[in-house]
Amino acid sequence: MAEIRVQNLVKTFADFQAVKGANFTVNDGEFFCLLGPSGCGKTTTLRMVAGLELPTSGSILLDGEDVTFKRARERDIAMVFQLFALYPHMNVRKNIAFPLVSTGVGREEIRRRVEEAARTLRITHLLDKSVSGLSGGDRQRVALGRAIVREPKAFMMDEPLGALDAEFRHIMCTDLRNLHDRLGATTVYVTHDQLEAMSMADVIAVMNEGRIEQLGSPREIYDRPASMFVADFIGSPPMNFLHIEGTVAPGDNAIAIDGARIGIPVLREGSVETKLVLGVRPEHVTLTDVGSVRGEVFGTEYLGTMQIVTVRTPRGVVKARIASSIPAHAGENVGLAFQTDCLSLFQAGSGKVLASALHDSPMAGVSHG
Ligand SMILES: Nc1ncnc2c1ncn2[C@@H]1O[C@H](COP(=O)(O)OP(=O)(O)O)[C@@H](O)[C@H]1O
Ligand SMILES: [Mg+2]
Repeated sequence: MAEIRVQNLVKTFADFQAVKGANFTVNDGEFFCLLGPSGCGKTTTLRMVAGLELPTSGSILLDGEDVTFKRARERDIAMVFQLFALYPHMNVRKNIAFPLVSTGVGREEIRRRVEEAARTLRITHLLDKSVSGLSGGDRQRVALGRAIVREPKAFMMDEPLGALDAEFRHIMCTDLRNLHDRLGATTVYVTHDQLEAMSMADVIAVMNEGRIEQLGSPREIYDRPASMFVADFIGSPPMNFLHIEGTVAPGDNAIAIDGARIGIPVLREGSVETKLVLGVRPEHVTLTDVGSVRGEVFGTEYLGTMQIVTVRTPRGVVKARIASSIPAHAGENVGLAFQTDCLSLFQAGSGKVLASALHDSPMAGVSHG
């Protein structure tokens, strides 16, 4: 098994920097996700770790050994891609066995490993079937089987579920995580789908334009986003942003807006800030008669027990996730209240977080904004 350490990794194509100095460590046995929008540099990062692409600068250590200039086949890492290229003329058993055939592993050992992989993936009944008749999910299981039989130090997966429909994806997410737990293998998983990353990862690296914006557990990233980009990328609907002009100095726990005081997370250090954005997740917004941040209900989205109510305010559009039993009608003027111990405060220009209250503040409560 393996620990992967990536240091100041840079990749430049001609004059375009696709990866701008990535730093992260994947601990032995960890499920690590590279998450970000299309084009942010996920695949390039993964390919460098796997040895399929040479970095422009920086280094990659596998179990402490510098493998930056080693070829893929010398790294003992298995890749699983979205486009599972199976050999159509071979049956499932031969497809899974394929990576072992030319490696000098004996026939009996190959048979044992293939059958074990098939059991792990619950495709034993398909072993002697042709791959051409398989469903997308089963084809991806065969591709995973091919990676597993090698018993590699680590798995690299690049959007492996991208080609599956939503229902299969969901099942495969659970399967993949279970598989990971059984094998205990270090896994680096690339996806642009925040729900996939949130449901599977131990640690997520959120990437944006070639940079890692935040490294953390799904919970840390959700509760304490490091930037407006992360706050907006994670969550559905994402975090709401209220634009505030006021003065906040370190130590302040409230700010005056629209004639009322609204509780904010406390800046521990830094300087006086004047252009601020208050971030609040939809589940931390409630409708109230007394709120000073007011707006007009623009629409409601019924989700069963819950509903998403969209309110247009002078400070930005706010979505509230509230019980469906609470009346909210389009055109109605409502006040908003925010759960102060769950807010984030960002610098408007840079989008960087200044303070997050979640788990930070001993005080919990509701602020009538
Ligand atoms: N071989 C290449 N030559 C030139 N540009 C590339 C090459 N590979 C990737 N890029 C560019 O680098 C950026 C990051 O690509 P990629 O790592 O594939 O992103 P992601 O996997 O996050 O969608 C993109 O703008 C892409 O066009
Ligand atoms: Mg990609």
